[in-house]
Amino acid sequence: MPNALKIDHSLVLVGLMGAGKSTVGRRLAHRLNLPFVDSDDEIVKAADCSISDIFEIYGEDEFRALEKRVIERLLAEGPMVLATGGGAFINTQTRKRILAASTAIWLNASLDVLVERTSRRGGRPLLADKNPKNILKKLIDERYPVYANAHIMIDTNEDSMDHTVDKIMNALNTEITEKQS
Ligand code: S3P
Repeated sequence: MPNALKIDHSLVLVGLMGAGKSTVGRRLAHRLNLPFVDSDDEIVKAADCSISDIFEIYGEDEFRALEKRVIERLLAEGPMVLATGGGAFINTQTRKRILAASTAIWLNASLDVLVERTSRRGGRPLLADKNPKNILKKLIDERYPVYANAHIMIDTNEDSMDHTVDKIMNALNTEITEKQS
């Protein structure tokens, strides 16, 4: 049974804004009986300030430094499903820590899907007051080769969030079976 999977390390979801990391992560955690944590939420708590305000008041570099520290702390905290902000895995040090301490799962989605999904929620400073399609296209070109370093890649395009969770469960089962053989 897929939900009898025993996970003894964290699962870290990476991918662009709108890929579904938080929604899928919450459902995956529920199925695996693991805690779910969103690194952006932890950053907001640590800074006592919204992501948009952190970008505006302190700048993106400060946000990235905070993001790195928060993710390091969470990785040390033990098995959980961790949804990360789209830029987290792009930072070389953060990526190395994620790859060493967890199973990294890239939720891959097409430009059109990302444009549609990001239009549903604001609060993303990289897209605010800009043409989201152009920005996301540029980020796909820059970041997809880096996300490709994740241990597992899941295509999410036409899938419901629950189907994406099923695919992750299957991929984890395969990974565990391969390790045991
Ligand atoms: C960012 C993605 C956001 C958030 C911040 C920067 C990025 O998270 O961390 O706005 O660089 O792609 P989501 O991917 O959860 O939207």
